[in-house]
Amino acid sequence: MAKFHFSKSLPLTLISFIFITTISTAKSHSFVQTISPTTLGLHKPEKLSHIHFYFHDIIGGKNQTAVRVASSPASDKSLTGFGSVMMMDDPLTAKSDLDSQIVGRAQGIYASASQSELGFLMVLNFVFTQGKYNGSSLSVLGRNTVESAVREMPIVGGSGLFRFARGYAHASTHSINALEAVVEYNVYVFHY
Ligand SMILES: *[C@@H]1O[C@H](CO)[C@@H](O)[C@H](O)[C@H]1NC(C)=O
Ligand SMILES: *[C@@H]1O[C@H](CO)[C@@H](O)[C@H](O)[C@H]1NC(C)=O
Repeated sequence: MAKFHFSKSLPLTLISFIFITTISTAKSHSFVQTISPTTLGLHKPEKLSHIHFYFHDIIGGKNQTAVRVASSPASDKSLTGFGSVMMMDDPLTAKSDLDSQIVGRAQGIYASASQSELGFLMVLNFVFTQGKYNGSSLSVLGRNTVESAVREMPIVGGSGLFRFARGYAHASTHSINALEAVVEYNVYVFHY
C-alpha cells in the first residue's frame, strides 16, 4: 500500500517541481522577450551599401581636428609612439579636397597599440550629416596599420538607417603632410 502511494505521488512531485522551476526561470528573465522581426520592419531582405568618402585628420594648425589626450614617457621614446591616444572629430568629404561637400564626421579615438610598427587601435563612429543619412552612424572597431597600402577595419554596428549594420571599411592614404593626412575610405555594409 505504501509502495503504491509512493510511485503515484512521485511523478506528481516531479511535475510540480518542473512547473515551479519553469515559472521562476521565466520570471527571472522577464526583461528579455523574443519578438517577431516584422515588428521592427526587419522582414525585408538586407541591403548592401557602398559608402565612399575622404577622411581628413588634421593634427595641428588653426583647424586642428585631432588632439593627443594621453601618452606616457615611454611613448615619447617609442619609435611607434606606443601608448599615445588621440581624440578626433575629423571631417569626411565627398571628394579629396577639404573644401568639397562634407558628408559626415569621424568621431572617436585612435591609439598607438603596436610596438613594432605604426598600428592604431581605432574606436570611432562615422556620423553622416547629408540627406536621408543625416544622423545615422556606423561604428568601427579595428586595427589600422597606417603604413600599409590598404587597411581593413570591421564595421561592428550602426544606428538610424544603419541599424544592424555589419561590414568592413577599406582605408588607403590619399596624401599626407606634416599637419594633415587625407585617407580614402570605401565602406561596405549590410543593413536593412
Ligand atoms: C581653416 O578652415 C577655414 C575654413 O574652411 C579655411 O578658410 C582656412 O584656410 C583653414 N586654415 C588652415 C590653416 O588650414
Ligand atoms: C541634419 O540634422 C540636424 C539635426 O536634426 C539639422 O540641424 C541639420 O540641418 C541637418 N542637416 C542636413 C544637411 O539636412
